[in-house]
Amino acid sequence: MDALATRQQPLLQHFSEFLAQQIGLHFPPERWCDLQRGIEAAAQEFDRQDAGDCMQWLLSTPLDRRRIEILARHLTVGETYFFRDPQVFDALQTRILPVVIRSRRQTGRVLRFWSAGCASGEEAYSLAILLQRMIPDFKQWRIDILATDINPQALAKAESAVYNDWSFRNAPDWLKTDYFRQTAKGRYEILPAVRQMVTFAYLNLMEDHYPSLTNHTNAIDIIFCRNVLMYFQPTLAARVIHRHSLSLVDGGWLVTSPTDVPQAMPASMETVYFPGAILHRKNASGTASSTTPEAFVQSQRSDQTSASAITSALPRRPPLESAAKIPPPEPPQSDYQLALALYLQGRYDEAAAQAATAANSRRHQAQAMHLLAKIHANRGDLVTAQQWCMRAIADNRIDPVGHYLMAVVLLEQGQTDDGMQELRRTLYLEPNFVLAHFCLGNLCRQQGKHKQADKHFQNTLLLLKACPPEEILPESEGMTVGRMAEIIRSMSDQELAT
Ligand SMILES: C[S@@+](CC[C@H](N)C(=O)[O-])C[C@H]1O[C@@H](n2cnc3c(N)ncnc32)[C@H](O)[C@@H]1O
Repeated sequence: MDALATRQQPLLQHFSEFLAQQIGLHFPPERWCDLQRGIEAAAQEFDRQDAGDCMQWLLSTPLDRRRIEILARHLTVGETYFFRDPQVFDALQTRILPVVIRSRRQTGRVLRFWSAGCASGEEAYSLAILLQRMIPDFKQWRIDILATDINPQALAKAESAVYNDWSFRNAPDWLKTDYFRQTAKGRYEILPAVRQMVTFAYLNLMEDHYPSLTNHTNAIDIIFCRNVLMYFQPTLAARVIHRHSLSLVDGGWLVTSPTDVPQAMPASMETVYFPGAILHRKNASGTASSTTPEAFVQSQRSDQTSASAITSALPRRPPLESAAKIPPPEPPQSDYQLALALYLQGRYDEAAAQAATAANSRRHQAQAMHLLAKIHANRGDLVTAQQWCMRAIADNRIDPVGHYLMAVVLLEQGQTDDGMQELRRTLYLEPNFVLAHFCLGNLCRQQGKHKQADKHFQNTLLLLKACPPEEILPESEGMTVGRMAEIIRSMSDQELAT
């Protein structure tokens, strides 16, 4: 470290703690040179004199969205390329996906993936291409690939779906010829059939809430979070992994990179080793363990006649843990409050049992039915989720929340028109229902109806203006007013950038 950085050590230490807390990024002393370099570059963009002045200035106020984005751009590495770590894709192609696909073929042909920390999108598109190759009738399936990142520039590039040769440095020969169209010398655009399988969105793994129906991070079959957590402080990385485990369906997989620092896995995640790849499977029974490839292969073989070892292993009801683990322990708690606390911990079986009791009592009956719809949607059981929405609506036809949840469940089933209809009903019953405006805005945007989308987003922003930024939005599962406003603004920035 040069003399300047040495002089700035106390400041660098203070600033690295601040970064860990605000973005999750981990800069131990051996990486302070990188931090210094990154801040020097960011200082120019922030129009600050130098790195020291820039750090002091950033420390003086909480980081807003724009500052986080600029810092993320200079302090994280966006390095990625198609089919990075081929052995991970081999394990997926030969071991994991055949079983997942076989199981889903019997139960509705729906698959949900999430590339968390997707950078410029190569990982998400590689997965889309792999799925097209493995599922000949993929057009008859609903395959949702959500790809999120904290860096809007990277997301804008991903949305544009145009890449240069460098992104293909590890790619098989057929990739360019079969799935891309050359637009200029050394520029290749991905084919629309692949492009439309992936949805890109801004999501800060440290700050945003997941799993959530609002940002589609619920009931995921496979999450990719590769080469992201290596930059996080270990306790914060563990928190991200815990939340990922809640976003997965039972039997779902978390894919990390072989070069990622091994993280402490929550009790519900079982580690499975493949040649050159380490994957983690959610096991609802909650017994932490690790499995050798032999044991894993054996478990697949012995289960070949039943649905599958991977996805259909029926979740055993987790044993009720001591009451001390159920927050908040303030007596007397209603069945509904207890169900809600269990739901927030991802203990869906117990939450469902408790909420079903609450749904039979007069107190909190409607909220209990709403919660049951969410619990089942989070587990990927959309049929039961829809039944609970119907019950809530049958009980009270003018219940806007029931209609809103029905809309979300219909949309997750690909029933866009019916879902939009339910959202309009929600707004008819409650014109100030922020999430319904937001959701309609997103749908109109996807359908290319930009005028209507703008109208809904403007309505959303108007409603948000009337509330304090730290207030949690109803039915959003933890999203604050300020956060939603930032998301809408960033979406319009992204649109301008593409
Ligand atoms: C090295 S890239 C990984 C890309 C891809 N997953 C891969 O393995 O090829 C790391 C990405 O993580 C993103 N990232 C870093 N911190 C993040 C956070 N708190 N929330 C979301 N994404 C984050 C960075 O912006 C960057 O695009």
